[in-house]
Amino acid sequence: MLILGIETSCDETAAAVVEDGKHILSDVISSQIAVHMPYGGVVPELASRKHVEMILPVIDEALTKADVTRDQLDAIAVTQGPGLVGALLVGLCAAKAMAFALDKPLIAVNHLEGHMHAAFLGSQAPAGPFVCLVVSGGHTALYRIDPGGRTKFLGSTRDDAAGEAFDKVAKLLNLGYPGGTVIDKLAAEGNPNTFQFPKAYLEKDSLDFSFSGIKTAVANFLRHYGPPASESHAVSYRLEDLAASFQEAIVDVLVNKTIMAAHLCGVQDIAVVGGVSANQRLRRRLQEEAGYRGLTLHLPALRYCTDNAVMIAAAAYTVWKRTGFTRDMMDLDAVSRWF
Ligand code: KG4
Ligand code: ZN
Repeated sequence: MLILGIETSCDETAAAVVEDGKHILSDVISSQIAVHMPYGGVVPELASRKHVEMILPVIDEALTKADVTRDQLDAIAVTQGPGLVGALLVGLCAAKAMAFALDKPLIAVNHLEGHMHAAFLGSQAPAGPFVCLVVSGGHTALYRIDPGGRTKFLGSTRDDAAGEAFDKVAKLLNLGYPGGTVIDKLAAEGNPNTFQFPKAYLEKDSLDFSFSGIKTAVANFLRHYGPPASESHAVSYRLEDLAASFQEAIVDVLVNKTIMAAHLCGVQDIAVVGGVSANQRLRRRLQEEAGYRGLTLHLPALRYCTDNAVMIAAAAYTVWKRTGFTRDMMDLDAVSRWF
């Protein structure tokens, strides 16, 4: 079954052709990083405009690279939400137009369900239930997922998402956008034990998160100590140590809550997906902790951590297996908040 996946929920215009939810025939991503860089974050109106500009060339490239004609497609899949409404609408309109013109079924995909599928692109999903941490720029949430796909919500952030904390702290430090990758690289050269930043574990056994406090703590730190290696302040410190210490506080909470969720649910498998799952320190700590506790860890390949259309086409295959095709999807609307 050949599915064209389309993803435009935030700042990547992406299209991919995937066969039977596994075999990747093409994978095209047009990043908008350069567009949003001057503003230190995603500007929704600019994102929508850039998607309009890129959506058709990106879809064409995905079909050409896959060596598949439009007629050979079995279905068109598109991210319906959650995400920026204006950005989502561009992908939805393109997908609806293609489905209508070609008389092909349209499959609506939840972006987070897409991220969850990224962990199993190179391997099988666990046979039993597993715990999945979705950790991105817009979300930080834990789910228990059963083999049939039934999903139980376990907890989520009460304020900022972890990726958002990375982005906001990078902005405070003038490190540019997107902040996660820059902090990840700097932190690799720093000592994570130099400074202690707050780790919000909340109530006992809580599987919720809170990351707004740590962002405020870094802001207060900068007010107090000034910029790194500053001669005008009594205390001089390395930016790498600050980045590593901040990152460690976030990683600690993500790792410990995921392990706790596995323990509370009595499951053996854990998956961690979404943009922040590309973080090197998080990946290493998860591997160590999972190994130590005999848990099986599923992490996406780096390319499939951040937004892409392969995960949308892969998730669409599962949606199709679960519900079959619903032909009349022309009134499908974008959903900004979902799950
Ligand atoms: O999944 P994603 O591409 O988009 C959303 O659905 O939000 O995630 C983007 C987020 C951004 O906040 C970005 O800073 C973060 O993922 N991110 C990282 C890394 N790479 C991307 N955070 C920490 N370390 C990284 N290596
Ligand atoms: Zn995403």
